Amino acid sequence: MSRARVVISACVVAAVACGHGESEHAHGGGVEVTPPASGPTDATNLTPLPDENPDPKVVEVNLEAREGTKTYDNSPATPVWTYNGSVPGPIIEANVGDKLIVHFKNALPEPTTVHWHGVRLAAAMDGTLAMQSPIPAGGTFRYEMTLKDAGLFWFHPHIRSDVQVQKGLYGVLRVRGAAEPAADVERVLVLDDIKLEKDGRVSETLDDLSRMMGREGNILLANGVANARVAIEAGGLVRLRVVSSANGRFFNLRIPGHKLTVVGTDGGLVPKPYEVDTLLVSPGERYDVMFVANVAPGGELAVLNEAYERGHESGKRATSEVLRLRAGASRVATPKVIPSSQAPIERLADAPVDFPIRLNEKVIGDEMMFTINDAVHGDIPPIRVKRGEVRVLEVINESDMDHPFHLHGFFFQVLARDGVAVPEASVANKDTIVVAAKKRLKLVARFDEPGRWMYHCHILEHAEHGMMGELVVE
Ligand code: C2O
Ligand code: CU
Repeated sequence: MSRARVVISACVVAAVACGHGESEHAHGGGVEVTPPASGPTDATNLTPLPDENPDPKVVEVNLEAREGTKTYDNSPATPVWTYNGSVPGPIIEANVGDKLIVHFKNALPEPTTVHWHGVRLAAAMDGTLAMQSPIPAGGTFRYEMTLKDAGLFWFHPHIRSDVQVQKGLYGVLRVRGAAEPAADVERVLVLDDIKLEKDGRVSETLDDLSRMMGREGNILLANGVANARVAIEAGGLVRLRVVSSANGRFFNLRIPGHKLTVVGTDGGLVPKPYEVDTLLVSPGERYDVMFVANVAPGGELAVLNEAYERGHESGKRATSEVLRLRAGASRVATPKVIPSSQAPIERLADAPVDFPIRLNEKVIGDEMMFTINDAVHGDIPPIRVKRGEVRVLEVINESDMDHPFHLHGFFFQVLARDGVAVPEASVANKDTIVVAAKKRLKLVARFDEPGRWMYHCHILEHAEHGMMGELVVE
């Protein structure tokens, strides 16, 4: 390949300082979000996946990955990949302690797997190539797991994930616990973006910027819809369960006139709810937030995506609207109350760092690659721990952009940020977390399930271009 390619890649890396003219590369993050052309569309509910098993402790579902078409915004029909015909896929509903059995069929023209993001399960059920062979076109696989934790989880392929997820393969799993905070209305919001070509096809060209930032779309989606409307109740306590299935985009959400109280995250509820003005949701993360809707009956609240600097001047972008929450005709007279404290989480003990994980990027050959301890996936020696051990990782981001770090199979807790201890009271169970440019996070986890597990950046273009390692529990 030409030398020009190398120069462009290196220049994007050093975009802030490289001195090339604006026209030579896309400063400020390239892809512009187009305001929706279609009219408001209701996206209040995701399609539920029917439970075929009469046993109340068993949820047994049929899940099929297959081709389909979908019309996004006012574009021509888009060929998509779906779970059971829809994008997002159907929602799986269960209770903590249930057994989940998924009869999966791959009706796609290429191999796939299903990874259960955030679910603590047996490694053989985790859908990664470390533990299962690809499910070929036409093949089937039976996934089975006992749901140990309440929370919002999601599922997606773990092969060519940058392409397969972008084409539409993602769905959510909501596991209810014994003590859920009461709300007047609860909604799931699956946030995403998609990059469509003029003819309606999902863009598959990976230009340098998309490789660098993760492929960002020109249309913002909530529950698969542009210009989405999601029903709430005026004056009511609203609980939003948010997940981002975007390849690269970070959502920095704000609802003007409202503070949001975070009551939970990836691994379930947090002991000490806290308030935020904006809610940063990186690819793969989940947040559970509450607020009282200060809106008249029939009125709407805009949910905005505010600029956030995650590298390469992405913070200079304009604010855009992601969706609107639409209030019904009546008003809730006495809203339910946001909990001020919830069930405790055992805080894992602080200890010295066992495993430094340095994230960086470099040009290898003529390709921009993303590295862990200077190596790429396949060449990174696995982290080895003994079953049951509590061990400490430190993720050190040496690069100029943020990376959402994701660990399979286990929750971790943040012990320290840049060497400053995180107070015990703000303990939370996470599986995906933003490690900002030039920052480091000290994480602790209990490795109580044997097998080979993955850890990686959840910007899928980064994971697929080097930034993924293995952790072996033996
Ligand atoms: Cu949601 Cu290994 O990923
Ligand atoms: Cu990354």
